[in-house]
Amino acid sequence: MARIAIVGTGYVGLTTGACMAEMGHTVCCLDINRRRVEDLRAGVIPIYEPGMDTLVATNVAAGRLRFSADYRDALSNVEFVVIAVPTPMSDDGQADLRYVVTASKQIARSLTAPAIVINKSTSPVGTADRISGILEAARPEFGPWSVVCNPEFLREGCAIDDCLHPARVVLGSRDMVAAHAVEALYESLDCPAIITDPYTAEMIKYGSNAFLAMRISFVNEVARICDALGADVTTVAKGMGLDPRIGSAFLQAGLGYGGSCFPKDVSALAGMAVSAGLDPQLLQSTRAINDGQRDWAVKRLEETLGHLEGATVAVLGLAFKPDTDDLREAPALDIIQSLIDRGASVRAYDPVAMPGAERLGVPALLCGSIEECVSGVDAVLLATDWDVFIHADWARIGQLMRGTVVFDGRNCLDPQVIARHGMNYLGVGRPGLVERTSQREARERIAAVA
Ligand code: UDX
Repeated sequence: MARIAIVGTGYVGLTTGACMAEMGHTVCCLDINRRRVEDLRAGVIPIYEPGMDTLVATNVAAGRLRFSADYRDALSNVEFVVIAVPTPMSDDGQADLRYVVTASKQIARSLTAPAIVINKSTSPVGTADRISGILEAARPEFGPWSVVCNPEFLREGCAIDDCLHPARVVLGSRDMVAAHAVEALYESLDCPAIITDPYTAEMIKYGSNAFLAMRISFVNEVARICDALGADVTTVAKGMGLDPRIGSAFLQAGLGYGGSCFPKDVSALAGMAVSAGLDPQLLQSTRAINDGQRDWAVKRLEETLGHLEGATVAVLGLAFKPDTDDLREAPALDIIQSLIDRGASVRAYDPVAMPGAERLGVPALLCGSIEECVSGVDAVLLATDWDVFIHADWARIGQLMRGTVVFDGRNCLDPQVIARHGMNYLGVGRPGLVERTSQREARERIAAVA
């Protein structure tokens, strides 16, 4: 079993640290934020992630996991150091590597013996070499340094399961001995490993995230066409997904993707392509469709209500997806702003993201329950497919509302149930119970051309 230090206790760092301890390794998670380290030592988990509190507590109690705010303390006597710091989007859309650079310098200064450095932060092609260069320059006596790019594919909300049961382990290095040493850290996991050069490993991460984002934008574009013509995108996606060459994952039409990864990674990959003199049209369209999906939804609601000026809308769900309190790039936030810009009043509720919404100053009336949120509104817009909304008492919601429009922005409700309670169901690319004239006319135009 190995001795490992993890730099960064965000989603990737904390999950990796706790899971590596669970695999039997001895792990110290380091964060420069002392308050966060004190909280973690007291068992307070800084992120909303189901099961993380128990996993951390169990491994701390077993003596395999500890937390430190001091580089020298965390890195003393370790064989591996994992970099798991944020790589946010900079103003020009590229990945901002300042935290990776700072962490690399600190690692070089703090180690008292050579160690293998593993980069888990999503970073552009060439970053592993850049880290090597920083380490070599700072501590040539420990060279040649071995850096292994080992991207993480975990999803918020099921991060522990993704980390302990990955579909693959990707390792990219110029030092094959180091790559195999990192592979051995994961030997208790039952999955294939891809061992390659660092550029390829770095590209696998961007390729994977951009491809999944592209599928979502694809299905959202199909949803808009379905909406215009009167077809049902949920059944279209089901029919497409049953083809094993396509598969059903990431074909759920809705308000588009958000979160800390897809928006910034699509943008960073497009930026890499532009820097290489290319014109990444599919990546640009993926992004444009995703941004446009939010406007499309607001316009669709406006069209249904007749006007948004003076209307009151309840937004159910603020987090970018269920099972997380993460509001980064959440479609709900743009939609709220757009509704307000068009003269609507907005009330909002989320089962876990309300403290974050308050901190951000979300410009809606923040409510304490579904009932409070929907009382007296003209329309409900469901922005996050939380179970509590799917299984809500829609009969009661119908009674509390002033109007009747329910816009299901995640296509997760049963239109028949909503209609049975006297409400007017509107989905993303799902036909309503009453055919729109525009849909019939569009089909007639197509048939006439054919
Ligand atoms: C993603 C990747 O899945 C993960 O491998 C990577 O390491 C980090 O980025 P995450 O951002 O946690 O994980 O969320 P994910 O579950 O992938 O969903 C991303 C977004 O896409 C959410 O906003 C979700 O609502 C949306 N989505 C997902 C759809 O709109 N339709 C789908 O079919 C699937």
